[in-house]
Formats: sequence, structure tokens, C-alpha cells
Amino acid sequence: MKPERFSAQLLESLNSAIIVLDDELTVLFLNHAAESLLECSNNRAEGFPLSALFLTGLQTFEDLADAIVCESPFTQRSIKMVLASGKEITIDLAATLLEPGSASKRKSDSARYVLEMQPLDRILRISREETLLAAQTTSRSLIRGLAHEIKNPLGGLRGAAQLLAKELSDPALTDYTQVIIEEADRLRNLVDKMLGPNKLSQRSAINVHEVLERVAKLLLAENHHRVNIIRDYDPSIPDIYADFEQLIQAVLNIMRNAKQALTTLGPEHDSKITLRTRVIRQFTIGRLRHRLVVRVDIIDNGPGIDKELLHSVFYPMVSGRPDGTGLGLSISQSILQQHQGLIESVSEPGNTCFSLYIPLEPVKDEHEHTH
Ligand SMILES: Nc1ncnc2c1ncn2[C@@H]1O[C@H](COP(=O)(O)OP(=O)(O)OP(=O)(O)O)[C@@H](O)[C@H]1O
Ligand SMILES: [Mg+2]
Repeated sequence: MKPERFSAQLLESLNSAIIVLDDELTVLFLNHAAESLLECSNNRAEGFPLSALFLTGLQTFEDLADAIVCESPFTQRSIKMVLASGKEITIDLAATLLEPGSASKRKSDSARYVLEMQPLDRILRISREETLLAAQTTSRSLIRGLAHEIKNPLGGLRGAAQLLAKELSDPALTDYTQVIIEEADRLRNLVDKMLGPNKLSQRSAINVHEVLERVAKLLLAENHHRVNIIRDYDPSIPDIYADFEQLIQAVLNIMRNAKQALTTLGPEHDSKITLRTRVIRQFTIGRLRHRLVVRVDIIDNGPGIDKELLHSVFYPMVSGRPDGTGLGLSISQSILQQHQGLIESVSEPGNTCFSLYIPLEPVKDEHEHTH
């Protein structure tokens, strides 16, 4: 095999994204990993300046060009770049200068630099979602313990108030026992809500778009703030095996939040909620790898999640609204967890996206029930 064919094959087989550049930082070659990381084919990129592949990250290119002039190696860790498509990626970047002599031997071969990129987003995402799942499990067991401790004495309290009410002949006094009973009920309802769905899920084959449409209808009926619902569905998504009522609850909590956030901007604002569905292949959630996962994005152009709450919105009792109980998202997250799925959120003013990941076919968790 000719050496150049051999090296091209070698580059293609690497998992790292490789870009070969000439003296002027013009792209000569992208390997497969680079094509998929940068969402651009080798044919389209060839002959263009490296900076054309990105919208931002230009400072990095200037630093890179400086390093290249000095013929010194270049490495930068965890840099954020925005691709021409608008997608943000986080990468480790290393540039290596090729042997100066070897490039000048043949005229056509002007390769001078090899850029190596390691995507970090997936790694960051996995560790972030593991933290999310662990936090969810911890808070659930805390709530379970607390709920048990609250509900027992509460039952006694309520029963005693009922007995007392029977003994009292003065209606002015039974008003007081009524207050005790009502407050005890309110507290019990709150604790039940915190515990999340207590039924075992009733799974069947359901169409995810049917869930979204049902929720959209419910939401539009709720009040008169005008919200434009935009659908971006992939109609080829197969049925998922899930609990219809629970999924409705999970999606409703998220869409209701979006609508509440949009309402704060007043009627002049062009309020939009976008519902987007996609299928993703080979996707890991927690420690399980799924062949196919449905992703549902619920995007609103509202004010965005408060900065202080950004990392804690999925915890129970975390709320940024004066009349909020802070349970909606924690309930949605538990429902998704029961379906081996996950909810993630990203938010900035004007663009808040909650993504629900639902595995198409639940896989058997070998680690389950081992404790
Ligand atoms: N789309 C969104 N835009 C802006 N902020 C949001 C959005 N979704 C959630 N939030 C913030 O996250 C907080 C937590 O939401 P969550 O649904 O868990 O509780 P809540 O809406 O306050 O109360 P509940 O849903 O129990 O009535 C909200 O109070 C709000 O501050
Ligand atoms: Mg809510």
C-alpha cells in the first residue's frame, strides 16, 4: 500500500477529529470524526479557511496562527466554539507542525499542520447527568423518609380533631377544629405531591405526538394569554412504550412553566413555544446505553430561568414564582426516570429549552434490584 493511502486510511480510522491545514490555515482534509464533530463534509470544507467552519472562537485561531508563526506547539483545553450551524461545542485542541522538510518535497502536498480535536460535550454531559440522577435519588429518599414522619402524626392529629368536633356543641368552636382538619389535609396533599406518582406505571405503545397535542390543547384552554405553538415533529418516530397519563403530566408541568414564564412578558410579547421531536441513535442515559431514544424539546422564548435557579430547578421545593410549590419539574423528572429517561434544560433570556429523552425500548438494567 502506498504510504499516502495508508496515512489517509489511518486518519479515517481515528476517533479523534483531525483537520489537516496548509501554511495559510486553509483546510486540506477532514477525517470522518471531524466531519461529524463539525457537521461539515470534507468536500465542503476543503479549500476554505479554517475560521469559516466556526462562527466564534476566533481568538483561538489568532493564538493558533501566532503559535504557527513561531513554529511552537499549540494546545488549549476546554474551549468553547460555535459551529457555522450555530451549535456550540466544547473541545480540547492541539496543533502539531508537520516535519518542515517533508511538506516541501512535493508541490501538491502543502500539508503543514495537523489539528486534533477531542469533543468534551458528551463527557461533560454524562458527568452532569450522573450528578442530576444522583441528586434526584438522594432527594427522593429524603422526601420518602420525611413524608413517612409527617403523615403518621398528621393522621392522628386529623382524627383527634374530628373526634373533638363531635364533642363540641358550639359551632364557633367547631370552626377551629375544621381549620385543623383542612390544614392537615393540605399538608398531606403537599407531601403526596412531593412523593410524585405513586402508582406503578401502566405502559402501552403510545405516540409521543399524541401526548404533545393533548398537552397543547389543555394548555391553550387554561387561560387567555396568547401563546403561539410551533410544531417541528419528526412524523417517522415509532411508538414509545410508556405510561400515557404520566407522560402527559411530565410534559404538562414543563409546558405550563413555559407558559407562566411567557405570561410575565405581557401581551405585547410574541410568545412562542416550539415543540420539536427527534430520534437519536446510540444514546447513553445514566449507565444504560439505548439503541434509539426519542428526544422531545420544549422551547420557549420567555425570560429564561433565573440564574440562581439554573442548576437546581429539578430539586423539589425550588421555585422562582411567589405562588409556586416548586414541585412541577421534580415530578416530571421522576416520571422520566421511571421510564429510564431524563430531562435536561438549557436556558438564556429568549431561549429556554427543556429536552426530554425517552428510550424507545426500555432495556433491562442488570444493576437493578441488586440492593
Ligand atoms: N420555561 C421556564 N422559563 C423560566 N423559568 C422557568 C421555566 N421553567 C421553570 N422555570 C423556573 O423553575 C422553577 C421551578 O419550576 P417547577 O415547575 O419545578 O416549580 P413551580 O412552577 O415554581 O411550581 P409548581 O410547578 O409546583 O406549581 C419555576 O418556579 C421557575 O422559576
Ligand atoms: Mg411548575
